Amino acid sequence: MTRFYFDGQGFDAQSDETVLDTLIREGHQVNYSCKKGSCKTCLVKHVDGELSMGSQRGLTLTLKREHYLCACQCKPTPGLKLKSVLAQELFISAQIHSKQYLSDSVVKIKLKLPEKINHCAGQYINLRRFDGLTRSYAITNDPLGEFIELHVKRKYNGQFSDWLFNHASVGEGLLLQGPWGHCCYSTAYIEDDISLIASGTGLGPVYGIALDALKSGHRGQINLYHGARNNAELYQHSSLLQLMLEHRNFTYHGCVATQKTDAQPMSRVQQGDPFDIAMMHFPVKVESGNRSRHRVYLCGEPDFVLRGQASVFLNGVQLNRIHVLSFDYKDLRSVSRSL
Ligand code: FES
Repeated sequence: MTRFYFDGQGFDAQSDETVLDTLIREGHQVNYSCKKGSCKTCLVKHVDGELSMGSQRGLTLTLKREHYLCACQCKPTPGLKLKSVLAQELFISAQIHSKQYLSDSVVKIKLKLPEKINHCAGQYINLRRFDGLTRSYAITNDPLGEFIELHVKRKYNGQFSDWLFNHASVGEGLLLQGPWGHCCYSTAYIEDDISLIASGTGLGPVYGIALDALKSGHRGQINLYHGARNNAELYQHSSLLQLMLEHRNFTYHGCVATQKTDAQPMSRVQQGDPFDIAMMHFPVKVESGNRSRHRVYLCGEPDFVLRGQASVFLNGVQLNRIHVLSFDYKDLRSVSRSL
């Protein structure tokens, strides 16, 4: 047993438990979701005592300096003292500026902030509603935009997504935390051949990354693969065809699991797995000498991203050239910390 203190109250951690595990076991009200150090919903503050290695892994320098840590990554040490964080310390206010329906199930939400914050397409934020319900969403627009834009898919039984899709009105206030993550474009990659591979609303961030690259004068080839169940789910098809016409180094590939035999054929759409289709277009093979120019971005559900990482790596792309945004941080618990 290791005794640590949280908000002045003593807790005994069993061996191998993290601070979060102990708090949950003891029935303490805490926010958490991924338990992997990704979503940052379990942030607490260090007050005193020795911090175990990895407690602050993945946090920004500012958060580290301000003594934040992830309860899910922190192994208690004897006498460690921690305290909870007030929402206003981590969240800023935001307002829904506009809603645009991109398909029957996807809505684009533009958020207005009191001041511009540094962000890029491919990062993600946590959004908190008036009742404490919190969800994470990927940012889909480039850093120059005045707003933060998200593509939200209405999910069956999805409390937050259904509210955003059907009920939230323009002007509605929310709290915003973040942005987090590094799955972004950089001008250091300007000569690289880039493959952007996404499933579902993973398209939002990769579309934003493509726009960011093109606006930055990217010189290598950019191939974007959007995987969907059927043609109807290729919700940015026309815009991506238009982007192809405007930029010679940008190519779009719609990849669908099924195509109705009587459906009107859509240009640039193939039936098949986006990874299989992307591999056919990979400009390099493992054995060739110039593979270091290739860079891959993967965005979507965790299974999709994991499978993609393995597939892309086995096709010769070095791990440090594979950027991922996995939606495994999405299902945040709605437990509100008592403030
Ligand atoms: S970072 Fe701790 S629960 Fe997600």
